[in-house]
Amino acid sequence: MNHEPVELSVNIGGIQLKNPVMTASGTFGYGEEYAPYVGLDKLGAIVVKGISLEPRPGNPPPRIVETTGGMLNSIGLENIGVDRFIGEKLPYLIDSGATIIVNIFGSSIEEYRDVANKLDDTHGISGLEINISCPNVKEGGMTFGTDPHMAFELVNLIRESTKLPLIVKLSPNVTDITEITRSVQDAGADAISLINTIKGMAIDIKTKTPKLANITGGLSGPAIKPIALGMVWEVARVAEIPVIGIGGIMNAHDALEFIIAGASAIQVGTANFINPKATMDILSGIEKYLGDHGIGDIKSLIGTLRI
Ligand SMILES: Cc1cc2nc3c(=O)[nH]c(=O)nc-3n(C[C@H](O)[C@H](O)[C@H](O)COP(=O)(O)O)c2cc1C
Repeated sequence: MNHEPVELSVNIGGIQLKNPVMTASGTFGYGEEYAPYVGLDKLGAIVVKGISLEPRPGNPPPRIVETTGGMLNSIGLENIGVDRFIGEKLPYLIDSGATIIVNIFGSSIEEYRDVANKLDDTHGISGLEINISCPNVKEGGMTFGTDPHMAFELVNLIRESTKLPLIVKLSPNVTDITEITRSVQDAGADAISLINTIKGMAIDIKTKTPKLANITGGLSGPAIKPIALGMVWEVARVAEIPVIGIGGIMNAHDALEFIIAGASAIQVGTANFINPKATMDILSGIEKYLGDHGIGDIKSLIGTLRI
């Protein structure tokens, strides 16, 4: 069937995206490895692996375990630090024509602020995604994402230190995700992304030891999709800023569910490990759905869930 061209662009808190398909931080590196499979400039945006002020070695191996319908990871935010990112990785990404969003984290609110401040002065970055939701590190990470007061203080401080649009990435490891949503929105977030991984574990029954050296890790993949979808719907109902859906999106059908639930864009994570072309397949699947249903603009599909 031949269709009229459909409008796929979306604006996420001031970041103009060609289409709603983004990569999820930590599952697409800094883009280079995927370039043979994915037109980096064809993606809505690339969200790079989380960056801290100083390089971090991450947690000891084993750090990845396959589980039913998903995987557990305890990478522990291994990264090369903000200076090497700017010097060694960013030029390639800029040359590729990609829309670049930098995922950042710190072990104190001052560290978050300093990373944000360095990136504010750097050319070629469209926005920051603030990770307040990593379950695999002792300090920082999830503690900021589970306490509404700390989350407010953190986002407020970063807001003062950068002009870049701020996406705040939420943790599912909370009792009421709408409470954190309100806090970060009041503190000046321009958009919200959710969810990060859900804390879990796996045990080797022969040795009676945990399969991950870190004992627990973050669960991702199809197993978490219904949880993520439910949380995106809950958050989109109360948020006054755009919501980005993440969690177990493996194909266009999954992505469309999130958009109908209220997500203005989606991020693809674990699927990249199984099918390196997953983002491109999802993009063409969304386009086909819009064409088949006579929907001329993706924006008119967002939040159309009928209850
Ligand atoms: C190996 C791995 C590394 C990750 N690293 C990061 C990270 O550095 N920062 C972050 O905010 N999220 C990180 N995440 C979480 C993902 O971005 C995403 O929120 C999560 O995997 C759920 O999406 P999925 O089910 O599509 O994978 C990581 C996930 C995986 C599997």
